[in-house]
Amino acid sequence: MQQRKVYIETYGCQMNLADSEVVAGIMNSNDYGITTDAADADIIFVNTCSVRDNAEHRVHQRLQTLKKYKSNSPGVVIGVLGCMAERLRTELIEKGNIVDLVVGPDEYRRLPELVENAMSGEKGIAVRLSRVENYDDIVPLRTEGISAWISVMRGCDKFCTFCVVPFTRGRERSRTLKSVVEEVRRLNDSGFKEVTLLGQNVNSYRDGDSDFADLMKAVSEVDRSMRIRFTTSHPKDMSEKLIRTIAENENICKYIHLPIQSGSDRILKLMNRTYTRAEYLRLVEKIKCTIPAVSLSTDIIAGFPTETEEDHKQTLEVMKHVRYDGAFMFKYSPRENTKAWEMGDDISDGIKVQRLNEIIELQQKISLEQNQPLIGQTVEVLVERESAKSSDEWMGRTDANKVTVFPKGDATIGDLVKIKIHKVNSATLFGTLEKRKVATLQESIPLEYWNAGINRHSRHLKSYF
Ligand code: SAH
Ligand code: SF4
Ligand code: F3S
Repeated sequence: MQQRKVYIETYGCQMNLADSEVVAGIMNSNDYGITTDAADADIIFVNTCSVRDNAEHRVHQRLQTLKKYKSNSPGVVIGVLGCMAERLRTELIEKGNIVDLVVGPDEYRRLPELVENAMSGEKGIAVRLSRVENYDDIVPLRTEGISAWISVMRGCDKFCTFCVVPFTRGRERSRTLKSVVEEVRRLNDSGFKEVTLLGQNVNSYRDGDSDFADLMKAVSEVDRSMRIRFTTSHPKDMSEKLIRTIAENENICKYIHLPIQSGSDRILKLMNRTYTRAEYLRLVEKIKCTIPAVSLSTDIIAGFPTETEEDHKQTLEVMKHVRYDGAFMFKYSPRENTKAWEMGDDISDGIKVQRLNEIIELQQKISLEQNQPLIGQTVEVLVERESAKSSDEWMGRTDANKVTVFPKGDATIGDLVKIKIHKVNSATLFGTLEKRKVATLQESIPLEYWNAGINRHSRHLKSYF
């Protein structure tokens, strides 16, 4: 019998991208092939996000267009995975006769069995959340050979009042330090140059007596030429020990994503963020003093219930004070069953848009100002892939996570190169190749790393959600 093929489309955060690689790994080890072409697939998985209403809206629309694959070939199985599966459950199957399977983030081990059943016409729902599942033993099928995401903890116990994640992902649980270090070692052996440790609250990681700082240190010692990143950290769990660990280990990138959400103490309290503006700013000072070259980014929500013009101004003030290199900025979106849902949604869309635009405009100005001093400087960049705009150029990232574009020259993917910057805008650095620093990517990378087909609808931090 011909091998059945799975197509996976991913929405949402890096945790979802990492999960899609876990799903691909599970399906692959059960004799399913992976394809990048939905038209060629026997099974279509859509790994979804619920964080804001528009994230869900996009998936509903996409399901409508995926319907045609089923009409063309009635045996095709369509599965909704991820956070929408957890949140909407039966509703997804009942609506529109498109979806055969609904599988939440902790039930991916059951996918082969559920797919088999779906092939014989039995629709399936598996949305149990687990206190222990962390896919520790699953080898993810990764889609690129340079930079890998590793989920080191799952779930979230913080319960910020606006957020669905604690409901869609369940309670916090961590992988063992040993298994993470082993995975990093394997990735290093197969030529990966960068790993990003992931968790919704990655710095609350714990394995017995080991905390996140211990994990970072252990991972950074695997190979000092490997870059180590992490995301997302909650300000409350940003310990001094972790800050020192970042400072003391050269290969841990000097880049911290530290969501603030709002600059107003009143709103922070309503959000249950568990820190005040002053505490957050003290933390930022501590970080900047300990890691002088640090680059910071954040998440901000505009138009949380009851937010006044004064609250909004305080957010702008904090942005001016911290001077983030980048930010992900969102309009508040009420989510059913969260605490904030009960607070109503009293800020009109017009005002939300106006505040969000002011926030975006200010951040773009600051990002540009932060990038301008780099003109004339030489930065170190890990070459990731061809630039989206030109096949003559590569794109890569600096240690501070700044996207850098430059003519290819004799550099190749996986090289760590020196780039002299001659132009910047708020989002990108442009430069020329000064020097190739390390040898080309090892040729030992297994072909499946390059060919595995997990279609990305969000890539890296730029389109985080
Ligand atoms: N765990 C991460 C964030 C996960 S969600 C953290 O706490 O830092 C990513 C971002 O989406 C959040 O930081 C927040 O800015 C935004 N977000 C979450 N729920 C939202 C909502 N209901 N409306 C608008 N933005 C939201
Ligand atoms: Fe959501 Fe807050 Fe948890 Fe982040 S820390 S995932 S915003 S509840
Ligand atoms: Fe979205 Fe779920 Fe991630 S809600 S942001 S895909 S954890």
